[in-house]
Amino acid sequence: MEFIKVTPNYAPHIALIELNRPKELNALNLQLMGELRDALKALDQEDEVRVIVITGNERAFAAGADIKQMAGKGTIDMWKVDQFSTWDQINKTRKPIIAAVSGFALGGGCELAMSCDMIVASETAQFGQPEIKIGVMPGAGGTQRLTRAIGKAKAMELVLTGRFIKAEEALSYGLINQIVPVELYLEESIKLAKEIASMSPIATQMAKEAVKRSFETHLDEGLHFERKNFYMLFAAEDQKEGMNAFVEKRKPEFKGK
Ligand code: CAA
Repeated sequence: MEFIKVTPNYAPHIALIELNRPKELNALNLQLMGELRDALKALDQEDEVRVIVITGNERAFAAGADIKQMAGKGTIDMWKVDQFSTWDQINKTRKPIIAAVSGFALGGGCELAMSCDMIVASETAQFGQPEIKIGVMPGAGGTQRLTRAIGKAKAMELVLTGRFIKAEEALSYGLINQIVPVELYLEESIKLAKEIASMSPIATQMAKEAVKRSFETHLDEGLHFERKNFYMLFAAEDQKEGMNAFVEKRKPEFKGK
């Protein structure tokens, strides 16, 4: 891995992926996205890992897709390269993913953060979809995920003006989960990851799947899906452990079985 650093056991049950092209503000070139896809696929199959945290560095989470790599391309080049197919793995990952964002999360960087399940932002974080300023538009889900996250009016404004928003504004729109001091953004993300990792990993993955389904279907179908996952969890030892621990007034020990 050249452009990302993967630490599968950063903390018990928690894997950390660090985007690592600091000079280019972690611009997401094809190789970086390919590495990210492969890392997520591998970590999703690793039983020990329950939660994945993706981060950049203090200055930039990621400043977007690599403009220099795209600048000279034509439509057929872009179609052949099919650069967004590597992004599909993020959406397919079953384990909860937290984006730990500091500094710029722009264009593809904002889209990457939004593809994660939760966003913990440092007070210096800035979000935006500035593609319009370079003559294009979001291509990795920005028009869809931003609109679902913050509503049409604000999404339209951000996509059509390319304006950046600071962490407080992002929080007020419901785009992010929390704002923390810059020196603590990774630590607080890991803290959140640890809390989730203490639950049954089967339950967290099925719950994540059901929440995501709410964006893709109508209420009846979503409720049906939720109920199916709820009943399925009764096949797991973790359900017995969780409920028995409650009855016996002790802490549950979930094994992911
Ligand atoms: N692609 C390639 N290189 C990038 C980049 C990007 N998206 N963003 C920053 N860089 C590079 C700069 O070219 C510069 O490299 P050099 O030192 O070799 O010149 C280096 O990173 C540092 O950047 P700046 O000197 O520009 O730093 P700054 O602090 O003055 O500005 C910034 C920071 C406001 C983030 C500015 O770099 C910027 O506007 N970047 C582009 C943001 C953008 O338009 N993102 C959308 C990309 S398109 C996209 O993402 C499509 C999609 O939907 C997937």
